[in-house]
Amino acid sequence: QTVEAFIRGLPKADLHMHIEGSIEPQLMLDLAHRHGMRLRWDTAEALRSAYAFPNLKSFLDLYFEGCKVLQTEQDFYDVTRAYLRRAHADGVVRAEMFIGPQSFTERGVPMESLMGGVLQAMDDARRDQGTSSGLMISVHRHRTEADAMAVLDQIMPWAGRIIGIGMGGAEVGNPPSNFAGFFQAARDRGFRITVHAGEEGPASYVREALELLRVDRIDHGNACLDDLDLVRELAARRTPLTVCPLSNLRLQVVTDLAQHPLKAMMAHGLHVTVNSDDPPYFDGYVTENLVACQSALDLSVPEIVRLVRNGLEAAWVTREERQILL
Ligand code: ADE
Ligand code: ZN
Repeated sequence: QTVEAFIRGLPKADLHMHIEGSIEPQLMLDLAHRHGMRLRWDTAEALRSAYAFPNLKSFLDLYFEGCKVLQTEQDFYDVTRAYLRRAHADGVVRAEMFIGPQSFTERGVPMESLMGGVLQAMDDARRDQGTSSGLMISVHRHRTEADAMAVLDQIMPWAGRIIGIGMGGAEVGNPPSNFAGFFQAARDRGFRITVHAGEEGPASYVREALELLRVDRIDHGNACLDDLDLVRELAARRTPLTVCPLSNLRLQVVTDLAQHPLKAMMAHGLHVTVNSDDPPYFDGYVTENLVACQSALDLSVPEIVRLVRNGLEAAWVTREERQILL
């Protein structure tokens, strides 16, 4: 049995992925065609070859451009359903998915279309393939806190179907502290919270997320290793870190997977999980992320099993569902 078959066969969680970052190139072209739009690329191969990024910002530019093909309820259904199919084939039994409504509502897409399509795809994936999924609403840190507050108000009709609130976008220069009021409001409304921190930004952003925003999880979190007091705090609280190794490689957060802090994070007792982020853009779903790390970092079978189990343990599910997953 190969390492890949072993990893693919393990029941896994994907706790950090972005629906709008999961559009495979062919679907991007099909959706553009559906709306009579012309993209800058006319084949899937050409589009895929544009996925070369010097940093987070250059990726986000293309990612936000790609968002323009998502317009109707059917589009949101199709992209979500396609991701959940791939995830199921990848052995993912629990997917926690971000969507950032600001990319769509700013162009006049109604929140109803976005939520309707995504939630229907989640229900169908549960019914047809048994995949458990949860939806997280992500706000953009490069926009204002007032803008984020408006999103919070707009999503309240669906509050019962939203498992948490997150924040992504261009990190450096946009610290979590800028959104302290927003995340307080989100927690007051009963939402769990998780924010992207310490991907390109410093350890101080991870500390702000933990201490000021009082997050339940951290997305990425790599930079925490620069502050050992913070590492001890994260380990003591068992705050899950949703690490995305191939994303880090493709966005040049690390120069080489062999240099990735994953193993060091585990050695410090952190609750590390491995996730996909934006699979087509970074060339890998959860299995590919684990396989690449296994080979670059020489992970043992117990280490792989630990990472996978950490993911299932960090999932935001009910007590009943946790018993099924674990
Ligand atoms: N949005 C989608 N992927 C992201 C990432 N890796 N960092 C910040 N924002 C994102
Ligand atoms: Zn992300």
